[in-house]
Amino acid sequence: MLVLGIETSCDETSAAVVSSERKILSNVLISQIDEHKTYGGVVPEVGARAHLEVLETIISQALQQANVTLDDLEGIAVTAGPGLIGGVFVGVTMAKAIAAAKKIPFLAINHLAGHALTARLAEPLDFPYLLLLVSGGHSQLLIVKSALEYILLGTTLDDAVGEAFDKVAKILGLSYPGGPSIERLARLGDPKKFGLPRPLLHHKDASLKCSFSFSGLKTAVRQEIAKLPFMQEEDCQDMAASFQTTVIDILTDRSSNALEVCLHQGIALNAFVVAGGVASNQSLREALQKVCQNFGIKFIAPPAVLCTDNAAMIAWAGIEKLRLKAIDALDFAPKPRWPLESIKGGE
Ligand code: KG4
Ligand code: ZN
Repeated sequence: MLVLGIETSCDETSAAVVSSERKILSNVLISQIDEHKTYGGVVPEVGARAHLEVLETIISQALQQANVTLDDLEGIAVTAGPGLIGGVFVGVTMAKAIAAAKKIPFLAINHLAGHALTARLAEPLDFPYLLLLVSGGHSQLLIVKSALEYILLGTTLDDAVGEAFDKVAKILGLSYPGGPSIERLARLGDPKKFGLPRPLLHHKDASLKCSFSFSGLKTAVRQEIAKLPFMQEEDCQDMAASFQTTVIDILTDRSSNALEVCLHQGIALNAFVVAGGVASNQSLREALQKVCQNFGIKFIAPPAVLCTDNAAMIAWAGIEKLRLKAIDALDFAPKPRWPLESIKGGE
C-alpha cells in the first residue's frame, strides 16, 4: 500500500511516498528558512505564497524519486491542521484535487498525530506509549492509545518549548530557527554560568505535574543579558548552555512525572517516545534516555530528519488512518486549531 503525504503547515513544503511496510520511498523537502530569516520567525503570508509556488514541483519530485505515478497510490494524506491556515489551505486543496481526479481516499491528517506516529514508522512499536511532543508550536505529554486516541496529561501554560528556543536565540542574536543554533553554541558554553528559573519544577499540585511554562525563562534570559556591561562571544555560549540545560531539566522532570502517573494508573506502556522538532536535540535525547533507563522503559527517538516537519510522517499517519478505514470527505474543512485529544473516529 503506497500513500503520498503532503506537509505545508509551517515553513517546510514537503511531499513523500511511504509504503505500509514502513519504507520511505521519497521524502522531498524545501525549507523556507531563508525567506523568513530576515524577520526572525515565520511570516504566514510569505509562507503561503511560497508553498503555492513550489508544491507542484515538490510532489512531482517525490513521485519521480519513488519511481511511481499517481496511479500507483492508494491514498493521499495531507496536514489539515493545526498550523498556519494559509499554508494548510494550499496543501489541502492540492490533495483534494488529486484525490478527486484519481478517485483515491483523501486522508486529513492532524499535524501533531504525524509527529506522534513517526516512532511507528521508524520502528515496530505497539500502542500504548507515552509521548513527549516538543515542537515550535506545542509542548505536550500524551498517552498514545491508538492512531486516533490520545490522552493529554499536560501541556504548556504559555510558550511552546521550540518557541522558547527561537525567542532566546533571537535575544542572543542567533539565526532562525533557534534550536539548532542554540544547540551548536551550547556545546562550547558553561551550563552553570547563569542561574535560570525552572518554573513548576517539583510542583506538588497534581494538575500541574505534567505541565510546562517557558515564558518566564525567556524573560529571565533577557534580564540576565541586560545585566552584562556588554555581551561577549563567551557570554553567548554560556547563556545558550545554561538555557538548554534548564529546558532539559524541566522536560526530564515532567517526563518522569508522566511516567509515574502511568505507572500509578497501571498503564502498560510499550515505550517512551520523544517527537517534534526539538526532539532532534542530542543533549535532550541523552537526558531522556537516562530517565527511561531509571524507569526500565524502552526509549525511542526517531531519526532527527523525521523529527522536524516532513511529509513522510504525514504519509505514514495516512497509512495508519487508511488501515482503520478512517477516510475523510472531500468537504473536510482545514482546522487552524485541532487538539490531538479531540480526534476520534474517521474525522
Ligand atoms: O516540529 P517542527 O519542525 O515544527 C513545528 O511543528 O513546530 O519544530 C520546529 C521547532 C523550532 O522551534 C526549532 O527551533 C526547534 O523545533 N528545533 C530544535 C532543534 N531543531 C529544531 N530545538 C532544539 N534543538 C534542536 N536541535
Ligand atoms: Zn511539527
